[in-house]
Amino acid sequence: MKVLVVFGTRPEAVKMAPIVKALKNDEENFIPKICVTAQHRDMLDQVLRIFDIKPDYDLNIFQGGQTLTQITCRALTGLEGVIEDFRPDLILVQGDTTTVFSGALAAFYHQVKIGHVEAGLRSGNLYSPYPEEANRMMTGVLTDFHFAPTETSKANLLREGYNESKIFITGNTSIDALNWVIDEDFKFDNELINQIDFNNKKVILLTSHRRENIGEPMVNIFTAIKDIVAGDDKVEVIYPMHLNPKVREIASEILGNKERVHLIEPLDYLPFTNLMSKCYLVVTDSGGVQEEAPSLGKPVLVVRKETERPEGIEAGTAKLVGVDKDTIYNELYKLINNKEEYNRMANAVNPYGDGRAAEYITKSIKKKML
Ligand code: UD1
Ligand code: UDP
Repeated sequence: MKVLVVFGTRPEAVKMAPIVKALKNDEENFIPKICVTAQHRDMLDQVLRIFDIKPDYDLNIFQGGQTLTQITCRALTGLEGVIEDFRPDLILVQGDTTTVFSGALAAFYHQVKIGHVEAGLRSGNLYSPYPEEANRMMTGVLTDFHFAPTETSKANLLREGYNESKIFITGNTSIDALNWVIDEDFKFDNELINQIDFNNKKVILLTSHRRENIGEPMVNIFTAIKDIVAGDDKVEVIYPMHLNPKVREIASEILGNKERVHLIEPLDYLPFTNLMSKCYLVVTDSGGVQEEAPSLGKPVLVVRKETERPEGIEAGTAKLVGVDKDTIYNELYKLINNKEEYNRMANAVNPYGDGRAAEYITKSIKKKML
């Protein structure tokens, strides 16, 4: 069976890597080819390097300041040539980015079967996360095999009328990837991180990039962080900044040149996840980071109004704190100063799968298509 694996951004690459490996290890059944749209360039290449993935097709669509329309049109046009060249039996897409929707639409236009990895997550608000909620729903409509990570995501799909025989609960492949890389003795090649005293300092790992947070919400998030650090010299912050210039501008303005606040370049996946396993707590609006932190026993404050990942919150490791400055400050203050509150959240739980999602996905494909 010829399988075209399509992805374009950092998180898709991390979560597709275990599937690429599983397909390549099953030569008897699969002829896999990898197509990257390169919606991200640097942040994608960082992940390709770590997992030693060499794309068969690289559409190289990235342009600084790209609009959603440009990403969609360029990906769709590029994918047409790839599909005509490889003529796959199945196209796999992962998640909720514009690459995912374009990949599914291109497959549909060529009447190629579609497998959607990480299907069925819903926030219930089309504008948050934006445009990801819509991307995931539009992809669902076109999908033949929905690989839902959890019971909750399967229930969302059933509620929308999808046929149960096409839904597979697999866990999230982010856990497969995470299990490969965490190492107690990991050595960072970043001097700044090496010098941080993780035992005596309370290190906040911050990530923020969501489109709907750019503007006032992001100003609120960063201001709450700035205030909490200013008030306690035991607290340090590391923020590997997303490459979006709009995000970096707000971050530099509010958090730049502040004592114990380290604004750094995006980290490679290995140092990033190992940093997460060493930090005190995580503040994030990222989807993937929300899934990874619970596995590592790190409390996560999710700085968004809604989340399509309620499992971490139900498990007690994550808290949805919104984007109000005072609320974020107060929640941070509690976790930093109240040991009981901290311990209540710092439990290593993993509601996102047993680390064998890629294996379940390839097995399901074989069962349905071979
Ligand atoms: C995209 C996805 C989002 C995902 C995120 C992961 C869409 C609409 N959004 O958002 O769902 O959570 O990736 O990080 O699909 N940039 C670079 N180099 C890079 C990557 C980005 O310079 O390697 C800068 C560019 O200026 C670019 C901007 O970041 O214009 C935004 O990139 P884009 O892919 O449009 O959206 P993200 O915010 O990265
Ligand atoms: N990540 C990384 N380096 C960083 C920040 C994040 O490798 O500096 C990884 C993180 O471990 C996770 C993924 O990137 O696997 C999440 O990507 P992002 O937050 O950009 O996107 P989202 O998950 O929100 O779509």
